[in-house]
Amino acid sequence: MLQVKVPATSANLGPGFDCMGLAVRLYNTFTAEANDRLEFHLKGTYCDHIPLDSNNLFWKTACILWKKIGYTPKPLKITIQGDVPPARGLGSSSTAVVGGLLIANALANYPFNRFELLRLATEIEGHPDNVSPALYGGITLTVMTDTGVVPRILSKNPSFKVVVVIPDILIETEKARSILPAFVPRNDAVFNSSRVGLLVDAFIREDYPLLSIATQDRIHQNQRASLIPGMPEALDSALQAGAYGAALSGSGPTLIAFCPEGVGQDVAENMQKALAENHLESTCLTLDIDPEGAVIYEQTNG
Ligand code: HSE
Repeated sequence: MLQVKVPATSANLGPGFDCMGLAVRLYNTFTAEANDRLEFHLKGTYCDHIPLDSNNLFWKTACILWKKIGYTPKPLKITIQGDVPPARGLGSSSTAVVGGLLIANALANYPFNRFELLRLATEIEGHPDNVSPALYGGITLTVMTDTGVVPRILSKNPSFKVVVVIPDILIETEKARSILPAFVPRNDAVFNSSRVGLLVDAFIREDYPLLSIATQDRIHQNQRASLIPGMPEALDSALQAGAYGAALSGSGPTLIAFCPEGVGQDVAENMQKALAENHLESTCLTLDIDPEGAVIYEQTNG
């Protein structure tokens, strides 16, 4: 029996659209056992909307890896413990992609190393910002090139806490991408690229007060604000309550704030209040960064 535990992730971190991300200590766990047919079992907090047939993303991803190496898929009993809320901007699809690749790779006797799995996961997702921290843990910058990806782990154990405020609405990434303009004005490109530089510097040097500027964005957050009523006010209110910085998590609707010790509760309350004033209910979690990324275990029964 194989089990893989994959962390939730937050992508973009403000200006780092499609390239920056981080992993948090909140997990989806996938277990695979030999079986006479393909069978799914669901456990955990978030199990709605998960296809329980060959359209399941974990299974489809496993089949992509097996096809690449000419391995004939064998039926499995797959148990999904879903604790990452889906369609909220916390990388739940990436947990299925990374989990499917790691288990398929193990069942095929490990033809790919983790870097090769990142390339494959990026091909499948189209961008590496969630799958990279899901595979490596920590805070990552991952650059796509013509031939593959260059992943950099910037930090594994930062001293801040991450507050995530999860609005009670679903946003499909495809929709949140489709509303973005295809071209970015030059001054916005300069605004974002300068802040991505600052963001990397802030994480490497652990100079977290820089995050108030380094998490600013002009190329996707405001463009998505119509999907999340109260988002700009909630992000501002996080800073007023003492957060180092705050951003939209992935394509939303979750918001993320980087908090020094002791301010997390005030930050969460402020953000939730700003959303509630716009008739958006939410839940919040205070999380640490996951430092190791997806972990696969081989278990023997008994
Ligand atoms: N970078 C992606 C986006 C993350 O913002 O659309 C969501 O998959």
